[in-house]
Amino acid sequence: MLNIAVFVSGGGTNLQALIDAAESGRITNGRITLVLASNDKAYALERAKKHGIESVVVARRTFSDPKDFDRRILEVLEEHCIDLVVLAGFMSILGEEFIRRYRDRIINVHPSLIPSFCGSGFYGLKVHQAALDYGVKVTGATVHFVNEIPDGGRIILQKAVYIEDGDTPETLQKRVMEQAEWKILPEAVNMFCNGLLK
Ligand code: GAR
Repeated sequence: MLNIAVFVSGGGTNLQALIDAAESGRITNGRITLVLASNDKAYALERAKKHGIESVVVARRTFSDPKDFDRRILEVLEEHCIDLVVLAGFMSILGEEFIRRYRDRIINVHPSLIPSFCGSGFYGLKVHQAALDYGVKVTGATVHFVNEIPDGGRIILQKAVYIEDGDTPETLQKRVMEQAEWKILPEAVNMFCNGLLK
């Protein structure tokens, strides 16, 4: 059984999708043992509490040296014997040391079809605004491994979502979450936990 840590910063709907998948047996061989939040206001913390999952807040701004932020996170992960880190709407940048230590064991969900609308500056609603501004007809979500290049790691799963007339960044975000993110993130985690990602 692998120990999974889910990193969050906001609402935590992707965390909820992971919890639901684990509770209904769609994630086997892995359990969410820790939720790590970048701020203490993250609603995701309530979700963790409701399901009896331990949580910890590690806020980057409280560390004057970003390396200490990384070291603190590594310390917490080691304390909990974490095998897999899932970034589910985690908005802090992780340093190279952290990425090196967890190479091929960190996965992220991004709300577009990479390589479109990704990289630094593309997060949350900004991604959907950019897709609408460009005028693409299809967008979606991507689950990928994390390496030193923002949104540049090996792609695991992608799912396309159609843009509809009258979409706003908010309506598009909701559809991309419902039709893509909440499906492919648990599926990728289950694949990882069962040794299906090589
Ligand atoms: C999700 O749409 C996720 O893909 C996105 O933030 C949202 C978090 O929502 N992540 C990024 O933009 C990362 N570049 P949630 O807190 O409800 O899961």
